[in-house]
Amino acid sequence: MSLLLENIRKSYREPDGGSLPVLEIERFELGHGEQVALVGASGGGKTTLLNVISGITAPDAGRVVIDDTEVTGMPEPVRDRFRAERIGFVYQTFNLLPAFTALENVLLGMSFSRGRADRDRALQLLESVGLSHRLDHRPGQLSVGEQQRVAVARALANQPSLLLADEPTANVDLANQQTILDLVRSACTTGNVSLLLVTHAHDVAGQFDRIERLDEFNTAATITPGATP
Ligand SMILES: Nc1ncnc2c1ncn2[C@@H]1O[C@H](COP(=O)(O)OP(=O)(O)O)[C@@H](O)[C@H]1O
Ligand SMILES: [Mg+2]
Repeated sequence: MSLLLENIRKSYREPDGGSLPVLEIERFELGHGEQVALVGASGGGKTTLLNVISGITAPDAGRVVIDDTEVTGMPEPVRDRFRAERIGFVYQTFNLLPAFTALENVLLGMSFSRGRADRDRALQLLESVGLSHRLDHRPGQLSVGEQQRVAVARALANQPSLLLADEPTANVDLANQQTILDLVRSACTTGNVSLLLVTHAHDVAGQFDRIERLDEFNTAATITPGATP
């Protein structure tokens, strides 16, 4: 799918009642099947940007257009369904459901239940992230790196057309970092999935044809928190 952001603005209300501008983006585009690494300073708004793209967070102003559909104009339930069906999200904090096993977490990432086909695909995805021996472990019984790999498998479970990955290699060792990156990228290449991947690591970003620095197209990033504009 193709993605277009236009004149996006997002501020957070600060505890003292002030306003903290986090995103001010005139234009950002992601082509169909394109794979982009997004780098930027901590606190620079990367996670907020992914949340705005996926419709988890509504921007204060501006348009998010996916293919020919304006996500920002959708009623919330429609937007939630659109996200569930079209967008895969690897959250920075995983957001795995603690009461469910690795296999169940991946199955829950599928919005249509097709019974056995779903189970086979979930098993296959967990095998591809090297977790066939941890199917029945709950998140609390998995290492951080293993939880990260379950989160990747779950994000791919529903065959999304856009994958948003928030520092998916940040919590794993170097060998697993490359494994996860290769898995994510080959799954996207095979399925013609557009990929926006946030990373701090230069050796990760360096593998992408297109690298975007958030600070370069987000003018809010230059505003010092607490400063009066
Ligand atoms: N819900 C919130 N309320 C107020 N401030 C927030 C909230 N979420 C994030 N922020 C602030 O917005 C800025 C951007 O956060 P974030 O998008 O998480 O950045 P990044 O992912 O690049 O580290 C940070 O300074 C953070 O403290
Ligand atoms: Mg973040």
